[in-house]
Amino acid sequence: MRNQLESFFSEVGVFSEFGERTLVDHREVRGLRVPFYTNEFWTSKQRVAHSLHEVSYRACFKPQLPRFFVERLTDAGDVVYDPFMGRGTTLLEAALMGRRVVGNDINPLSRILCEPRLRPPRQEDVVARLAEVSLDSCEGSRGAEDADLLAFYHPDTLSEICALRYYFLSREEAGELDDVDRWVRMVATNRLTGHSPGFFSVYTMPPNQAVTAARQRIINEKRGQVPGTKDVRAIILKKSKQLLSKLTVFDERELAGSDVLFTVGGAEDTGGIADGSVKLVVTSPPFLDVVDYRTDNWLRCWFNGIDSSELPISKLRSEQAWVEKMRLVFMELKRVLACDGVVAFEVGEVKRAKVMLEDMVIEAALDAGLSVHGVMINAQEFTKTANCWGVDNKSKGTNTNRIVLLSK
Ligand SMILES: C[S@@+](CC[C@H](N)C(=O)[O-])C[C@H]1O[C@@H](n2cnc3c(N)ncnc32)[C@H](O)[C@@H]1O
Repeated sequence: MRNQLESFFSEVGVFSEFGERTLVDHREVRGLRVPFYTNEFWTSKQRVAHSLHEVSYRACFKPQLPRFFVERLTDAGDVVYDPFMGRGTTLLEAALMGRRVVGNDINPLSRILCEPRLRPPRQEDVVARLAEVSLDSCEGSRGAEDADLLAFYHPDTLSEICALRYYFLSREEAGELDDVDRWVRMVATNRLTGHSPGFFSVYTMPPNQAVTAARQRIINEKRGQVPGTKDVRAIILKKSKQLLSKLTVFDERELAGSDVLFTVGGAEDTGGIADGSVKLVVTSPPFLDVVDYRTDNWLRCWFNGIDSSELPISKLRSEQAWVEKMRLVFMELKRVLACDGVVAFEVGEVKRAKVMLEDMVIEAALDAGLSVHGVMINAQEFTKTANCWGVDNKSKGTNTNRIVLLSK
């Protein structure tokens, strides 16, 4: 591993693919002289990412980030793991590269979003399935919650969404959900609310940030809007086609052959993952309480029968509590990591933070007995998805991803 990381950092130190040379300096952190490498290592100008990634998720990273590490630090067949998988960017990118993948998140919604994109169906199967499912059924949930949901949807559209929801929940309960159902469910989940006509809802916030019904009523009043009817089937089919648009025969082969394991729970306690089984971790944890994953995802959770109010997503407001939590996560990563394994731990950037996030990562990792090898700072022009912690920044400028490289 030492040799592999040495050659990795040698390459990073002279990297100049996007015209700039890497700036290398050192900083003393907890008595350790840590090298910092700054450059544009991956960029939005690079090859456009695979269409399968295009489901929105709060604070997701660009696929180019995991690709950079998977490409250089693993071989085909190695296990790549993300303990805070979100929409599953690391898993999908690694699986497209023929790696075995493991993903964990405290929210079961993550698996619902990721799994179908690792087993994509053919569009004609999606068309056929949607034609079979009755959206007229009145058996879907038609209770008190309707009043709130009507802030987002026309009554006819809501009735179709409820019928679809009922179909998935009952198929799941009967153990009859198949890959095509999972795909349609994932696409529908991503079309629930949004800020363009391509969603089931009236105009609202972007799809990864569902607002409360009360807030939506205010938005409706301010904009003088009422929810209109939407063609649920057509919206699903259009998005499905777009997600599948770049899928090649080669991708299909890689994905069909990829070995996948999902666990649901806290990243500090992942008993389902074997000791020493992971070659590379590429991940990005929640930072303090900058993003509220519970409320942002309440409608997606509702659609999938998950009670988001019951999710044990931690609210770590203090830096101390965050470092302690990450120490526990690092102890668990140390257990699952192979002896030649590497952790690439991304902490984005919070402009108003008074602390250096990477210093907190280094402190927690050292306390857990991991070795710290260096910090990479990817500097790139500001874009929406690079706004990793959901902190509003309307000004033009540079955003950074800060990745701490660790090993056993
Ligand atoms: C920054 S997001 C990860 C985004 C991911 N990199 C992607 O590209 O989609 C952090 C994720 O951590 C999850 N999470 C929060 N607390 C957790 C915990 N204690 N253990 C595991 N996952 C947790 C959240 O549900 C959220 O999906």
